[in-house]
Amino acid sequence: MWVVFLGPPGCGKGTQSEYLVHNHRFSVISTGDLLRANLGRVVDAAAGKTINDIIGSGSLLPDEVTISIIKEELSANDSENILFDGFPRTIVQAEALSVMVHDLGKKIDKVIYFEIDDGLIVKRITGRYKCVRCGKIYNKFFLQTRVDGVCDVCGGTDFEYRTDDNLESLTKRLKEYHGKTQSLIDFYSKSGILAVIDAASSFKDVNSSLLGALYG
Ligand code: AP5
Ligand code: MG
Repeated sequence: MWVVFLGPPGCGKGTQSEYLVHNHRFSVISTGDLLRANLGRVVDAAAGKTINDIIGSGSLLPDEVTISIIKEELSANDSENILFDGFPRTIVQAEALSVMVHDLGKKIDKVIYFEIDDGLIVKRITGRYKCVRCGKIYNKFFLQTRVDGVCDVCGGTDFEYRTDDNLESLTKRLKEYHGKTQSLIDFYSKSGILAVIDAASSFKDVNSSLLGALYG
């Protein structure tokens, strides 16, 4: 099954993709994670801007950059179940993805739209932290480690916050989302593969809605 996760910052895409990787043998292609692994790369030579500068400001990367990353990832990935977390985010990216999957003889089976109001996102973003060793995502308001300072999954004791998880970047990220990404809801609804889930509820309820949408 090939699946796309669509939704604003902090809606729970990364959290639910962790679950699918560990329990349903999905391979995740997350543009955010791939970009964060290449923060020093210059993507706007004229303005001297690196990936770090653009992510930090909350803007989207140019389409050609993310599309070429996805092409490269897909050519190296022969998993049966692929989950796209954070791609596509523009109509141009969605059209490019349609061409890529068609050329590979595949199709996108489902697009899951994580529906949530902007007002609920602030605590999710400003409270997020992550285990450096295994990547498990936590939240100081909603999901703390069971033992203070020790990762539940791997026992790691180093945690990190994202540099774009501040109010200023979040405001820009939400503006980008509403201006450029939200139109994909309509795009995929027309092709009949969109499932809408309530992303404002508890971890467990979001998870059961997701499983219902994928396998129900
Ligand atoms: P990316 O890393 O994808 O960030 P994002 O879309 O802003 O989404 P987040 O990762 O912030 O949120 P999430 O939905 O994964 O939420 P999570 O599960 O962590 O992209 C970063 C940047 O890269 C972009 O701004 C852009 O610059 C660039 N980029 C990426 N893709 C691009 C593309 N295609 N084109 C151009 N540029 C691109 O959860 C958040 C928090 O909430 C966590 O603390 C979690 O514990 C908590 N939480 C989760 N679920 C619940 C729940 N049900 N109840 C309570 N708390 C919850
Ligand atoms: Mg994420």
